[in-house]
Amino acid sequence: MGFKSAVVRFIRSRFGASKDLGKMAFGRNSGIDNDIKEKYGFDGELLRLFAANQGPPVHKWHHYIPLYDQYFSRFRNSPVRFLEIGVFRGGSLQMWRRYFGDSAVIFGVDSDPACDELNGQSGQVRIGSQDDPNFLEHVIDEMGGVDIVLDDGSHQAKHQIDSFKFLFPRMSKGGIYMVEDLHTSFWRGYGGGYGRNSNFFGFSTDMINDMHHWWHFDRLKYPSLKNMCSGIHIHDSIAVFERGLAVEPTHSLVP
Ligand SMILES: C[S@@+](CC[C@H](N)C(=O)[O-])C[C@H]1O[C@@H](n2cnc3c(N)ncnc32)[C@H](O)[C@@H]1O
Repeated sequence: MGFKSAVVRFIRSRFGASKDLGKMAFGRNSGIDNDIKEKYGFDGELLRLFAANQGPPVHKWHHYIPLYDQYFSRFRNSPVRFLEIGVFRGGSLQMWRRYFGDSAVIFGVDSDPACDELNGQSGQVRIGSQDDPNFLEHVIDEMGGVDIVLDDGSHQAKHQIDSFKFLFPRMSKGGIYMVEDLHTSFWRGYGGGYGRNSNFFGFSTDMINDMHHWWHFDRLKYPSLKNMCSGIHIHDSIAVFERGLAVEPTHSLVP
């Protein structure tokens, strides 16, 4: 690497510059469904719902589709209570309605009052900010509880963390909390930055340490979330938290 490119790289990393997403756009000629099938070996209904969408726009990174299915498929055709933070044009709510089925309780929240006109189309839409606990509490009450949360809202690290701290303890056991577009954790404009503790990956690291609290002597970072998380999965730009009951491990030597 030349000196100049090393300096550019250092400055970008240091100041959390955003990547040029235009360069990562997919050339449509080969087909979105083929791209997902070939790269990720996934061929399920969600692929068709996404790739053949003719309704309101849905913008998703291709590798999210198999991940959604991996974590959400067991809730299909059940009265799952699903909350999406970030409604935008309503495209994803429509996709989720088709995916989860008629018996699902689907709510979306968005801070943009224009989203109110989507209320009642594929699910219920409520207007408010994801960092407002009173608003979130009201929404959860209306839903009768929540089994899945998908955070695709402001992508601001502080909002992601505040929403998680409020919603996660209120989820049903066996539920899934997913946060997407976590590449923003590297970008200053979203409260991120490479290796910064204050971004969502820093928070996730604290959660990993807390989940292992019986193995070390350090204090819990989030005592209010103690023993509520039974699994944490990190994928590219996606974090998944399993809401369960964590119990101290036991071991045996058999026979
Ligand atoms: C990426 S878009 C959501 C896209 C949608 N989930 C989809 O896949 O079609 C992000 C949305 O989050 C909303 N938003 C921004 N800040 C927010 C906040 N503090 N609370 C709730 N929603 C917010 C924006 O208005 C925008 O509609």
